[in-house]
Amino acid sequence: MTSFKASSCHSLNGSIKVPGDKSISHRSIMLGSIANGITNVSGFLEGEDSLATLRAFQQMGVQIERVGSNITIHGEGKHGLSSPSEPLDLGNSGTSIRLMSGLLSAQSFNSQLCGDESLSKRPMARVIEPLSMMGALIDSYESKPPLFITGNQKLSAINYTLPVASAQIKSCLLLAGLYAEGETCIVENSTTRDHTERMLRGFGYPVKTSNGQISLMGGGELHACDIEVPSDISSAAFFIVAASIAKEADITLSAVNINPTRTGILDILALMGANITLTDERVVAGELVADIQVCSAKLRGIDIPQKLIPLAIDEFPVIFIAASCATGETLLTGAKELRVKESDRIQVMADGLTILGIENEVLEDGIRIRGGEFSKQNSIIKSHQDHRISMSFAIASSRSEYDIKIEDVDNVQTSFPNFVELANRIGMNIEEI
Ligand code: S3P
Repeated sequence: MTSFKASSCHSLNGSIKVPGDKSISHRSIMLGSIANGITNVSGFLEGEDSLATLRAFQQMGVQIERVGSNITIHGEGKHGLSSPSEPLDLGNSGTSIRLMSGLLSAQSFNSQLCGDESLSKRPMARVIEPLSMMGALIDSYESKPPLFITGNQKLSAINYTLPVASAQIKSCLLLAGLYAEGETCIVENSTTRDHTERMLRGFGYPVKTSNGQISLMGGGELHACDIEVPSDISSAAFFIVAASIAKEADITLSAVNINPTRTGILDILALMGANITLTDERVVAGELVADIQVCSAKLRGIDIPQKLIPLAIDEFPVIFIAASCATGETLLTGAKELRVKESDRIQVMADGLTILGIENEVLEDGIRIRGGEFSKQNSIIKSHQDHRISMSFAIASSRSEYDIKIEDVDNVQTSFPNFVELANRIGMNIEEI
């Protein structure tokens, strides 16, 4: 079991490129596998989560070659997947299991989807229920993985309003909808990441979107295309916060995906007074990217606007670190979803912040954080099998005088394998022990 020893640092400087976007990497494998023809992907995230998706499709007979972050997928067409001989082990990855449950519900063969201890605790009723309404047959114990999917069901389209703001549910149903009879229509009351819709269009599959309604007709085909995966703003977020809270910093993160459904972190930090500049905005393979320059700033506490929550859903652990270094109080409410991520991110962050000497109050659907100093020596934090908890507390060291030890950080491999290398390259002081 690896730990981080994160020590104080002087100033943060330099230009780095964080790895490819996790959401886009997953989707590139899924859509490339069911497309007709060869899809070439560059900038693929070589993290355990996206590799779990890649291996699962190889298990279903898709020829996929990987040289570093370059992937070649020999698409089998929509009906070309074959029955896996073993259960598909999706590790820690909620995105893999939820999206694939939609796709596999529509196949002619049975499948079994499972994962690690953290994934096995995560709620799946949110996909099982609407998929069952479409005609899917999925068994599980208390709606938690493993999921047993019986194939050969005839799916019919549904009209479904998302009960929680979730791109995973939306994407799961759109993938099932590709095979359903009729037009599947998903209504979302809050905007969630739209990579599935964008990528489907990139594969030549028509998707209509207007006023929070996303719809597609079943029965069409996907045509292979080339995908350049931009850098993941959820990984960039760690260094955006590190530079914002450091005493001195001027860093640039190049070619980061700034899809407007993902930029809540930038808006929240701007409200807190951060010094962030976007330059060279451009479109790459249907996604907006920019270089992000971040200098240190005096942050102030804010009430986090509700509409930004789904747009920053993965960034709250590190936003809580920013809030700990701000003057005054930061209040987050309406964010119950954080309790069902890779860990209960409200409770786990609150416990860690208390260990570091930051006053906070846990709310059922959020947290109140009073900015202060990381004032405790010999702090030991547990990651609770959650990569973003591991990295967030490591980032706290860019403002802490004292070492912070974070235990059980192998999970960082799921989304950001070279986190330590990049952190140290800009002047942080993180050691793996
Ligand atoms: C993701 C959607 C989000 C996010 C997850 C990736 C995706 O989950 O937390 O890390 O790729 O669709 P929810 O849609 O459940 O909020």
